[in-house]
Amino acid sequence: MTFQLAKQETTSKSEMYSSLASQLRSLLEGERDFIANAANLSALLYHSLPDLNWAGLYINKVDELVLGPFQGKPACVRIPMGKGVCGTAAQQRQTILVDNVHEFPGHIACDSESNSEIVLPLVKNGQLLGVLDLDSPVLGRFDEQDACGLNELAAIFLDYAEVL
Ligand code: SME
Repeated sequence: MTFQLAKQETTSKSEMYSSLASQLRSLLEGERDFIANAANLSALLYHSLPDLNWAGLYINKVDELVLGPFQGKPACVRIPMGKGVCGTAAQQRQTILVDNVHEFPGHIACDSESNSEIVLPLVKNGQLLGVLDLDSPVLGRFDEQDACGLNELAAIFLDYAEVL
């Protein structure tokens, strides 16, 4: 099976995210394995969205976040609930947009190139499965449109995800 990533020649972010939504549905079609689907979600995001240096998941394991499939440089493996951007988004079950990670109290620096970050909680049937984390070297890289588009992609991923 080969999967050709669509060239992102569209102009608006909303067009880009709707193209990514169709690509993600094709990638996940017929597959319910959480790790495999998380790996493909990370690869799709990392290779399609501009200005990223990291895209991946942390998985909720006994109230601690553990590194899951990702693209980018090696990252810290365990993040306690409530710590860093990931642990805060997980604890509050809210998307967190950070324009400048150096100003976020308790930010966990895995890659010194990261300057901005967005983290979305992954909640299915009331259960926190983990978080989706994207980092960028560009300050203020993520906005509300990214939050909205990524939220739609996370919802598609969760539709296919079997609870671990
Ligand atoms: N910066 C994150 C840690 C994970 S890395 O960005 C991959 C945080 O503060 O939770």
